[in-house]
Amino acid sequence: MQEFASAARLQQKRIGVVPTMGYLHKGHLSLVRAAKERSDLVIMTLFVNPTQFAPTEDLSRYPRDLTRDSELAASAGVDVLFTPAAEEMYPSGYDTYIISERLGTVLEGEFRPTHFRGVLTVVAKLFNITQPHVAVFGQKDAQQAVVITRMARDLNFGIEIIIAPTVRESDGLAMSSRNVYLSPTEHTQALALSRSLKIAEDIITRGERDAQKIISSMTAHITREPDAKIDYIAITDHEKLEPLAKLQSGATALISLAVRFGKTRLIDNTLVKVG
Ligand code: PAJ
Repeated sequence: MQEFASAARLQQKRIGVVPTMGYLHKGHLSLVRAAKERSDLVIMTLFVNPTQFAPTEDLSRYPRDLTRDSELAASAGVDVLFTPAAEEMYPSGYDTYIISERLGTVLEGEFRPTHFRGVLTVVAKLFNITQPHVAVFGQKDAQQAVVITRMARDLNFGIEIIIAPTVRESDGLAMSSRNVYLSPTEHTQALALSRSLKIAEDIITRGERDAQKIISSMTAHITREPDAKIDYIAITDHEKLEPLAKLQSGATALISLAVRFGKTRLIDNTLVKVG
């Protein structure tokens, strides 16, 4: 893969990469479209990265369907699908990791302390292997987008990082490979997440600037669902991820949340430009 990418670079090809863990949905395919607009050659990586799962998490049951994914990737215009084996990515003796000192420790990092270490390590490896000019990630994983953008800058990767908008089901649920875990009842209850983000946007539009009040309205809405267990609902600066007490006019706030339904943990978010 690395030799192929080097050769493509020598031929002046502009390389776009879309890293994924597979079980592709329309969210992933929207990233491919964004990559195609900005490059001559689109590489999709498909690797269920063990280092970003904690021992208690869903690595072994993470959904996989390489045949279907290959077809979807090809029809979306992916030129190369890179699917390394875990032993190739992490051979015995593997010892080097990338850590985000602060950005990776808040929000998701409080509940998944080793998660972003795994994400940054594998993304850095995939960048070195695929040698892209541009890499596309989704706003669905807002904090991931922030820590990867920061890493690319901090470590001088010289790669343009594009963040594409969240693609949703027609009922509002943010698309995720993990949605297949939801029972029909849980799926219905999970619609409270996107509705609570809409509620937040509405009350901000009507003039509410107190973050705690917005969070309380969202909490009240979500806790109406009998199986919802909230990990966090946060209103932060969209780049520094520091909590905002008051929404200042002109600021862009990131409203993000993580909620569990049974064994399934869902995240969602919205960016709000405060008027
Ligand atoms: P995965 O969850 O497969 O997501 C791959 C990419 O698709 C990420 O950039 C994610 O933000 C984006 N994505 C997921 N759902 C989306 C949606 N509904 N709308 C738009 N984009 C969406 O994120 C990962 O894999 C991994 O952590 C990875 C970056 C590949 C590193 O292992």
